[in-house]
Amino acid sequence: MPYFLGVDIGTSGTKTILIDEKGIILAEASSTYPSYHPKPLWSEQDPEDWWTATVKTIQSVVKKSKTKAADIKAIGLAGQMHGSVFLDKKNKVIRKALLWNDQRTSAECEEIEKRAGGRKKLIQMVANPAMTGFTAPKILWLRNNEPKKFDKLAKVLLPKDDVRRRLTGEFATDVSDASGMLLLDVKKRNWSKPLLSKLELDPDLLATCYESEEVTGRLTPDVAKLLGLTTDCVVVGGAGDCAANAVGTGVVKSGVLSTSIGTSGVMFVHSDKVEVDPQGRLHTFCHAVKGKWHMMGVTLAAGGSLEWFVQNLCSEFGAKADPYSILNQEAESIQPGSEGLTFLPYLAGERTPHADPDARGSFVGITLKHTRGHLARSIMEGVTYSMRDSLEIIKDMGVPVNQIRVSGGGAKSALWRQLQADVFGQDVVTINAEQGPGYGVALLATVGAGYYGSIEEACNATIAIKEKTKKKQKNKLAYDRRFPLYQKLYQSLKDDFKKISAIEG
Ligand code: XUL
Repeated sequence: MPYFLGVDIGTSGTKTILIDEKGIILAEASSTYPSYHPKPLWSEQDPEDWWTATVKTIQSVVKKSKTKAADIKAIGLAGQMHGSVFLDKKNKVIRKALLWNDQRTSAECEEIEKRAGGRKKLIQMVANPAMTGFTAPKILWLRNNEPKKFDKLAKVLLPKDDVRRRLTGEFATDVSDASGMLLLDVKKRNWSKPLLSKLELDPDLLATCYESEEVTGRLTPDVAKLLGLTTDCVVVGGAGDCAANAVGTGVVKSGVLSTSIGTSGVMFVHSDKVEVDPQGRLHTFCHAVKGKWHMMGVTLAAGGSLEWFVQNLCSEFGAKADPYSILNQEAESIQPGSEGLTFLPYLAGERTPHADPDARGSFVGITLKHTRGHLARSIMEGVTYSMRDSLEIIKDMGVPVNQIRVSGGGAKSALWRQLQADVFGQDVVTINAEQGPGYGVALLATVGAGYYGSIEEACNATIAIKEKTKKKQKNKLAYDRRFPLYQKLYQSLKDDFKKISAIEG
């Protein structure tokens, strides 16, 4: 019996699953690691932690499933996008990796647009404007701010691709994750030589680009031994976690949109051709489906907002309690609109629709009547409004959204599923596979190893709708009334956010 591993190197931790060729999950394991925030807008992790977690979780699923080493045919890697692993000539990490939600690179974004000959020209070359979270600005930040470290730079890898290097010895990436570096000609699905030259970056800094289902290498003998696998086990391109999640929820054709609430919140639509939001609010990236693309909007602190609340304000629940289920219960009894309390989820600045590193999280309208349950509900509502911002842009571009598939930690909460249906004004569905990105890349591994002819075929054979959450018309109307106010609050506060940022740094 053939088996396949899906490894998702996320922000809060790494999750690994083992599936059979029918897509049944045999074993899963996860391992967490910290993020570091040395300054308010900075966000970093240690690549060593990703490797340790990958080894630990693969060893654990191999042991738990009692499969024979030779039966594990292929590995798919998914990962948090945009992170920068800076390596020297000896493959040593030069400094901690800057993450997707790090906001230190505003000056470098301006520099990139200027060097490219303006925002329009940049979008023509790489389909996207410069955003602080993307990788190219991070490389320029290293050059501008830590020049001695930049002098040592030999390779820049994305998080999952550094894990791949240690698994296979190969410098490789896939087109979906590579799109988020802002150095890929997204239309041609390969590096943009013109942009690299304008930025004075050596193309040799980058890994070789593959389609997500293609084989990029095999396990080295040492690693195969360490993991309890064989050197016949191949590693496929895999995908950035957003495209991987889309595959893992079956979003591989037009008309279907996936929402994912993890640390970030993502609204993702498949597209058969390259379509670009002229205002650059949505990202246009290669899909993990061969020869296809996608558009997406990203809320930087989605589940991350609720996690912040739990970590900082719910310590009295005690170690044994599940803080999320307590907050869900408390929030459920509150009326839609949280009795006038509105939350802006810009704890890490914002990407879509504002692209504003200085934006700040806010509770607006708080009164003596409000309780912890109101705060929790308003956080969930604010995050969902932010995702509706992306949905409205997608719909305004004329992209059909016939079905919304909800996924990620947020979709495990019945309340948050209902909120999504009511705020989006459309029924939402869950699917049988709940492992999102890890499941998506495990499916890509089945294709790479030759067990399915295409990823569409693999998805058709394994993914099915599980449950529908219908929108409640009364709640929809309540949210339709409040959404313009939510949108206006950012406009009212954005100049003050800039002042706060100027004073506090
Ligand atoms: C996508 C993005 C985030 C990370 C989170 O553009 O920045 O969704 O990939 O893992």
